[in-house]
Amino acid sequence: MHYPLLLSFILVLTISLEVLAPPPYHALVAPIFKHTNANTSLYSIALNNYTLNNYEHYIIDVDAPFTWYKGELSPRALSCDTPACTVARSYRSPLCPIANDIGGDDQCRCLVTPVNPVTMSCAVSQLTYKDFSLYWTNGRFRTGSMGFSQWYASSAPPSLVQSLPKEAIGVGAFSWSSISLLYQFTYPSGLIARKFALCLPSSSRARGVILFGDGPYYLLPPPNFDAAGVLSYTPLYGDPTSPGYFINLTGISVNGKAINVARNAFDFHVNASARLSSIVPYTTLRSDIYSVFLKNFKKAARGIAQAKKVAPFSLCFNTTTIRSRGHRLRIPQINLMLGNGEQWTVDTLNSIKQVNNDVGCLAFVDGGEMTKQAVVIGTYQMENNFLLFDLDQSRLGFSSSPLPYGTSCGGFNFTVGSYF
Ligand SMILES: *[C@@H]1O[C@H](CO)[C@@H](O)[C@H](O)[C@H]1NC(C)=O
Ligand SMILES: *[C@@H]1O[C@H](CO)[C@@H](O)[C@H](O)[C@H]1NC(C)=O
Ligand SMILES: *[C@@H]1O[C@H](CO)[C@@H](O)[C@H](O)[C@H]1NC(C)=O
Ligand SMILES: *[C@@H]1O[C@H](CO)[C@@H](O)[C@H](O)[C@H]1NC(C)=O
Ligand SMILES: *[C@@H]1O[C@H](CO)[C@@H](O)[C@H](O)[C@H]1NC(C)=O
Ligand SMILES: *[C@@H]1O[C@H](CO)[C@@H](O)[C@H](O)[C@H]1NC(C)=O
Repeated sequence: MHYPLLLSFILVLTISLEVLAPPPYHALVAPIFKHTNANTSLYSIALNNYTLNNYEHYIIDVDAPFTWYKGELSPRALSCDTPACTVARSYRSPLCPIANDIGGDDQCRCLVTPVNPVTMSCAVSQLTYKDFSLYWTNGRFRTGSMGFSQWYASSAPPSLVQSLPKEAIGVGAFSWSSISLLYQFTYPSGLIARKFALCLPSSSRARGVILFGDGPYYLLPPPNFDAAGVLSYTPLYGDPTSPGYFINLTGISVNGKAINVARNAFDFHVNASARLSSIVPYTTLRSDIYSVFLKNFKKAARGIAQAKKVAPFSLCFNTTTIRSRGHRLRIPQINLMLGNGEQWTVDTLNSIKQVNNDVGCLAFVDGGEMTKQAVVIGTYQMENNFLLFDLDQSRLGFSSSPLPYGTSCGGFNFTVGSYF
């Protein structure tokens, strides 16, 4: 998973700096946009062309091994014998064809197989370079911008972006992989800590935020709300077969009572218990866990009028009578129980998806019997939660909803300010 070889030549990549104010160089920031259609909710990081307000949108994928974008095959393709090429090819999806090298010994160009994370279709393309820019921040507002030249990205034919939101030109990789964008943004000569905070907006009108490096991470409107101050932590795990992020989820509770599944249902060693996905819309539970969870939730929610279920959900309620002030719902409390004794509280806004004015559904779905992980935590449960993926210390920082503090993921101040 770690490729120390790569580090030596990452260092020689040029970094161009254009700062409006002096450091602190602890963090970089970019806005996140939400894109929804009938079947998907996807989130893009907006990079490049900031001055023109003409961003390039890349769908955020915390599982992708490398970034790709719609573009022509480039004459600047990497050669086959580079470490980056080896890394990119080591994560080939079993659903993709094996890409054979093209060119002879001198001219061998690195062919890779970028994958569309929604349809899982793939294309054979070339690993090449692309420039990226984003903002510096002091944690409160923008202080300047930073350009990174020549990072690894694969080109891809236009067919690969077809099912993605029309604004998206490709997919941005934020995984453990040493050629992900995360590595580029957090490896400028060690100035920035290898961590990123993901705060997905719950609406396409709000602008969420992704921050790279150390906090503070201020969210408005409270004058001094630092999200770093309200985080709990749990160990973050990698997996040799995929570059994504895993946590040791050991149970789920409803109104404080653990659901009564088989003792080894969440066993990390059987099949890594929980993966975090920035693509899967609703948290999926393996069938054996899902059926018990559903039964226990129904029992805890007896007394609340059910409504006809709406796919893909299996339990819906008439929410007109359980809405309290501030649009919060009075429904059973769900907690994700973690191996280190911490609990990730799922806010009611993250547990019930309102499908129309009257009807709200339990926003967890059956993942099937043969899933690789017991649980895949989806984006509906991550929205308006502040998640800190700390790769330096292999831990995940999580908040429940910051809404009780009077803020949300749309609270970052993207105005340019002077550091002084
Ligand atoms: C949503 O999925 C259905 C069934 O898979 C498909 O027919 C429909 O075209 C999809 N809608 C969009 C907007 O992608
Ligand atoms: C960003 O700017 C570059 C060069 O100015 C241009 O080639 C590219 O098309 C722009 N991207 C978008 C999304 O407009
Ligand atoms: C929900 O309950 C309200 C009040 O009892 C009722 O007027 C409404 O028709 C119900 N809606 C559905 C979809 O059941
Ligand atoms: C997960 O947590 C449980 C309970 O604390 C512990 O027994 C188990 O060893 C943990 N698994 C890993 C992989 O850390
Ligand atoms: C673990 O996942 C594999 C599929 O990746 C499946 O074949 C196997 O049955 C799973 N094991 C358990 C105990 O669920
Ligand atoms: C946002 O940041 C700018 C630049 O520092 C500052 O002038 C403005 O007051 C900030 N907005 C709020 C609401 O704090």
